[in-house]
Amino acid sequence: MKIGILGGGQLGRMLLQAAANYTVETFVLENDKNCPAAHLCHHFVKGDIRDFEAVYQFGKKLDALTIEIESVNVEALEKLESEGVKIYPKPSAIRTIKNKIKQKQFYKQHEIPSPHFIVTKNLQDLSNHRHFLPAVHKIAEGGYDGKGVQIIRNERMISKGFDAPAILEKMVNIKKEIAIIVAMNDKGETVVYPPAEMIFDPVLNLLDYQISPAKIPQKICWKAESIAKKLVQELKSPGLFAVELFVDENENIWVNETAPRVHNSGHHTIEANYCSQYDMLWRIMLQYPLGNSNAIMPSAIVNILGEDGYNGPAKYEGLDKVLQMENVFVHLYGKKETKPGRKMGHITILNKDYTALVRSAHAIKSTLKVIA
Ligand SMILES: Nc1ncnc2c1ncn2[C@@H]1O[C@H](COP(=O)(O)OP(=O)(O)O)[C@@H](O)[C@H]1O
Ligand SMILES: [Mg+2]
Repeated sequence: MKIGILGGGQLGRMLLQAAANYTVETFVLENDKNCPAAHLCHHFVKGDIRDFEAVYQFGKKLDALTIEIESVNVEALEKLESEGVKIYPKPSAIRTIKNKIKQKQFYKQHEIPSPHFIVTKNLQDLSNHRHFLPAVHKIAEGGYDGKGVQIIRNERMISKGFDAPAILEKMVNIKKEIAIIVAMNDKGETVVYPPAEMIFDPVLNLLDYQISPAKIPQKICWKAESIAKKLVQELKSPGLFAVELFVDENENIWVNETAPRVHNSGHHTIEANYCSQYDMLWRIMLQYPLGNSNAIMPSAIVNILGEDGYNGPAKYEGLDKVLQMENVFVHLYGKKETKPGRKMGHITILNKDYTALVRSAHAIKSTLKVIA
């Protein structure tokens, strides 16, 4: 089979690493020929994933297509789908998810618990909704890694909002943030990965580290898993999805957002679960049986981010020390240039003992630095 990936970042790169275990001819469409996935595919095609012609011409000769980022040309995918190319996930699911207004309306329509929200057209419109504060303003399209999200605590902060279509969402008193990956095949069969728990850096608003399986009561785990599974079933699309959820102070569960693709929160599944999220997506696209999503051992993920104050060719300070640590797996994404906060790689740690996981995560964070 000939299968293409729209986007050539680290998610595409890890997807291709898993593809090497199967007989599949791989294609990548991406503008940057030095992207992390470029040299791991059979055929690299330079082009803009947001451009109709580029996506259509790329997809025309393929059996199936998937995405590693949602900012793709959905119209081209719809045309390809109508001509018989299999798209994972379906363009209809991408369309629903890629726009936060549509995504939130979908949750409401299908009674999936998600924080209460209103739609705002622009800044002027936002200022009409003072009574709704404190809230979180989220741009409808184009936001990523916290860049499309702004907390508006009070009236004085309204000017920090987005002057574009957005949602204003009620602030949740978050106790835990978890993510659940759900995979669905063409027959509608599903598998659910154990929840992962995210720990955030309040300054950068970026993931600090992650622990899996999440330390949450069994009852909350079951409830969250059933919400995530229902959500994916309502999307009525095969593929792999990551559902981000909040558990609040009263142990209510709220869906934050969904990604219609392999996800950062599933990096650990490469070493820590019987079947990784990447392998799972190939099984779906190649019409093979679904894999086992269970955890082999508890794990943590530490993101390797570009150190503040350094721009230029990346150097990995402390890498030798980290490579000497036990049960630690290093993934560098092959990005030549570093800049502050850029995702340069990740490290997975395996350990039966949660305290040891947290200790190693902190040790790695203080040992490894990406400088220039
Ligand atoms: N309604 C909310 N209440 C409180 N915190 C929120 C809310 N929505 C988002 N956040 C915080 O902002 C982070 C980023 O928001 P998210 O919608 O996931 O955007 P992104 O696309 O950047 O991941 C979340 O992980 C969470 O920590
Ligand atoms: Mg998010």
